[in-house]
Amino acid sequence: MRTNERTAVVAPTLVLVPYRPEHVTKYHGWMTDPDLLNLTASEPLTLAQEIDMQQKWHMDEDKLTFIVLARPHPSVPLITSDDIRKHCPMIGDVNLFFKPGDAETESEVECEVMIAEPAYRRNGHGHTALRLLLLYASAPPLAVNPRNFVARIGAKNEPSIALFKKLGFALTKYVEAFDEVEMRFGHGRSERQSGIGREFWMGGGIGPELDVREFD
Ligand SMILES: CC(C)(COP(=O)(O)OP(=O)(O)OC[C@H]1O[C@@H](n2cnc3c(N)ncnc32)[C@H](O)[C@@H]1OP(=O)(O)O)[C@@H](O)C(=O)NCCC(=O)NCCS
Repeated sequence: MRTNERTAVVAPTLVLVPYRPEHVTKYHGWMTDPDLLNLTASEPLTLAQEIDMQQKWHMDEDKLTFIVLARPHPSVPLITSDDIRKHCPMIGDVNLFFKPGDAETESEVECEVMIAEPAYRRNGHGHTALRLLLLYASAPPLAVNPRNFVARIGAKNEPSIALFKKLGFALTKYVEAFDEVEMRFGHGRSERQSGIGREFWMGGGIGPELDVREFD
């Protein structure tokens, strides 16, 4: 999606940057791992296919991707885009898929997160990356209604199910054909309560106004 093609979202522990050609080799390396392919329900791609995919996702208006970078320490100054490139290692990605509604179904926005580097797991990065994504997407210009966020997760993927629960998502469906669960934000809450979804996602130095910067 072109909306975030020059956008960095900076937080005390993480930075989100757009998926660029310079990320493809590492991303492709991650996606040769059978466990990650299985957990993210992805198909293996050749490097050439991954290069095409990066370009396609950049142009598609129904997909938004950020690469997740870890911040070494909040005291390391990140003033320019080059500072971010120099100091922040690539550890994962977050994605949104925008699906329009029709006569029978509501429009929805499917969310995905991956912290691919094992050494960076269980440090709160998946939680923070997803919070940043949800806060970014529920504010203008995208202004997604929090109730339209959905996640589809392998039924045995307990870490991911627990992560989405922590972010205010609840189990809404089990799809036997894919052995996956569907989770939605705001399920079981009134419209007024889920309208305040953004409050779920703040904290730990992340407030209502995100540090959103131009990324060259
Ligand atoms: C799921 C994933 C993104 C979690 O990332 P992470 O950075 O390790 O998670 P965090 O440290 O931010 O943990 C946040 C919460 O997620 C849950 N969680 C994360 N890892 C967990 C684990 N191994 N077991 C149980 N719960 C876990 C917990 O609720 C945790 O909160 P807590 O620390 O208060 O217990 C990561 O394991 C991953 O990328 N897995 C492979 C890809 C994948 O499954 N993606 C989801 C596809 S929808």
